[in-house]
Amino acid sequence: MQNLLDFIADSPTPFHAVANISHRLESAGFRRLEEGEAWQIAEPGDYFVTRNDSSLIAMRLDRISGETGFRMIGAHTDSPCLKIKPNATNCSNGYVTLAVEVYGGALLNPWFDRDLGVAGRVTVKTASGAMTSLLLRIDEPVAFIPSLAIHLDRKANEQKSVDRQKHLPAVMLRSDDGKYDFHTLLKSWLCRAYPELDIDRVLSFELSLYDCQPPAAVGLGGEFIASARLDNLLSCHGAVEALLSAGGRANRLIVLNDHEEVGSASSSGAAGPFLASVLARLCRDEETLSRSLEHSMLVSADNAHGVHPNFAERHEPGHRPLINEGPVIKINHNQNYATNSESEALFRAVCELNGIKHQSFVVRSDLGCGSTIGPITATRVGVRTVDVGVPQLGMHSIRELAGVKDQQYLADALRGFFEYPDWPF
Ligand code: CO
Repeated sequence: MQNLLDFIADSPTPFHAVANISHRLESAGFRRLEEGEAWQIAEPGDYFVTRNDSSLIAMRLDRISGETGFRMIGAHTDSPCLKIKPNATNCSNGYVTLAVEVYGGALLNPWFDRDLGVAGRVTVKTASGAMTSLLLRIDEPVAFIPSLAIHLDRKANEQKSVDRQKHLPAVMLRSDDGKYDFHTLLKSWLCRAYPELDIDRVLSFELSLYDCQPPAAVGLGGEFIASARLDNLLSCHGAVEALLSAGGRANRLIVLNDHEEVGSASSSGAAGPFLASVLARLCRDEETLSRSLEHSMLVSADNAHGVHPNFAERHEPGHRPLINEGPVIKINHNQNYATNSESEALFRAVCELNGIKHQSFVVRSDLGCGSTIGPITATRVGVRTVDVGVPQLGMHSIRELAGVKDQQYLADALRGFFEYPDWPF
């Protein structure tokens, strides 16, 4: 459990998550492949490859052929958040504020009154003229979005709405000076983080605000995990654990994509060619790839909505997943989830073989259904897929709530999937 909490605390952005997972894989003997180089793949062998520093595919290969498929686990590295706009700083009414863009379907109210740090990727030019991208993390509360006092908004408790343009700029500094250069600040942060580099200037950045409060075990018995980005770093962590711990012989692969929260359409997102390209290069020819895919399956792991005790009516009766009662199989016949009866059956069989409790979820007919990388990957690659995930509360809040037992159940189920002896496909 502490391992998961440390991973989330150390991964405020997808760039950091991919860097941390890469480091873990390298320590376990996985070899890094570069997409731009010729691949010499040995079987058996352990490899990983990243794209855009924010998506990652790792694999333990046994033997690639038309008779053997791939057992795959997918998850996403991104979470809804506030990203910093290019011309970031404004000075007005005696304050320097930071302009932000809402990334994905963030629940905005919880972002107020938090101690916010800054993290992401910055591309710089060094004194030698080289262009290089650097990870940056300022784990200090350098920004804050204060609520408006209730005395100035008497209806705040009845009808609080957030104007994302007007209400979200984050306070950074009290200053009467009309100018403040964010690039100068960034450069000073980078010079502190990378004293060995001679940085000339900042060219561009992808930075987010994040909550400096670390993840914690909460509740009377410490049975809950409270943290940012549980959706979906919890599943990324479970996928990595499963890949590293599974025994037996099979081709096993995990794919962790960025940009799920904004629809997955990007070169590194699940709607892009990343996974299809890696599989094509592994299989080498179309015939082997097509045959291999028919023997393959993807478990798409992304958190599910547990039933909220104060809002139980928002769930379909008979489909009210509870925290710490095991992974949830998500079903939507309109293909917002890619689960079908065969992929569901296999996942249930895996759970039963390993003594893992599991639950099922279907959305109420009068509510819209969320989606995941499952149906997108199934469409893009043509692989049978089951959508699963641990139940959580407060999805897309800056501090979400999941179960301590569930993260272990998920990791065990994913490992069980990789090891399942009676592969039916
Ligand atoms: Co998600």
